[in-house]
Amino acid sequence: MIEKCLFPVAGYGTRFLPATKSMPKEMLPVVNKPLVQYGVEEALDAGMNTCCFVTGRGKRSIADHFDISYELEHQISGSGKESYLKSIRDVLDRGVFTMVRQREMRGLGHAILTGEPLVGNQPFGVVLSDDLCLNTGGDGVLAQMAKLYAQFRCSIVAIQEVPPEEAHKYGVIAGESLRDGLYRVEDMVEKPPAGEAPSNQAIIGRYILTPDIFEILRDTPPGKNGEIQLTDALLTQAKQGCVMAYRFQGKRFDCGSVPGFVEATNHVYENLYEE
Ligand code: G1P
Repeated sequence: MIEKCLFPVAGYGTRFLPATKSMPKEMLPVVNKPLVQYGVEEALDAGMNTCCFVTGRGKRSIADHFDISYELEHQISGSGKESYLKSIRDVLDRGVFTMVRQREMRGLGHAILTGEPLVGNQPFGVVLSDDLCLNTGGDGVLAQMAKLYAQFRCSIVAIQEVPPEEAHKYGVIAGESLRDGLYRVEDMVEKPPAGEAPSNQAIIGRYILTPDIFEILRDTPPGKNGEIQLTDALLTQAKQGCVMAYRFQGKRFDCGSVPGFVEATNHVYENLYEE
């Protein structure tokens, strides 16, 4: 039912310098697969087969990754090494990949708005590929959220409980509990200062958004850090209608930080890697 998924991938990856000096952070490998491919596979598994990338300068290798490499295909064809290409060939067979460039970095809300021409007037998923979400043996997080969307038909954010001292790194929600792990959002704050978080339910980088979010984003003034914040637009949407927050099944790794990235690497190597 939800056909498209937006991937904001224009960020600089400062925390991984110098590795990210000339390479997009989304192409850093977790074992043998670039971070962004995990997110794309999650979207495809949720039935979202058009993946829309909001890219920027220096991100061309992402576009190349989701295309055929004729030279490589030719070299490897018929050799024992063909199996190494299996996962990316599967992705290419299942998906359509579109791109638009974000010329200025004005925040996540601005990145989402930049993707509007690729998404159009329909509900869509959003993956922040820094958050690697794995639910081995069950539905991926976006598939779980797409099922909820079919029921509620409103925007949904993924949440996870975090220790109070970590809340300042996230968008934090507060709301009315509808059932275990499902809330109707009443308040939402982007990166609250220490001691001011409305709860310990932090937004993780998976969203389903209804397309009226674009109109709201156009009218959303810069917020935290002078950036146009998706969190602020979602609060407006929650007040005008409805936004749900969903505590997902699965494990999440913060691959935007070095310790989270290392943890993800160890987890994938020990549990999912097949030679
Ligand atoms: C973004 C969002 C924030 C959310 C986080 C999840 O922040 O603005 O609300 O909690 O992603 O990873 P960023 O980490 O890009 O600063």
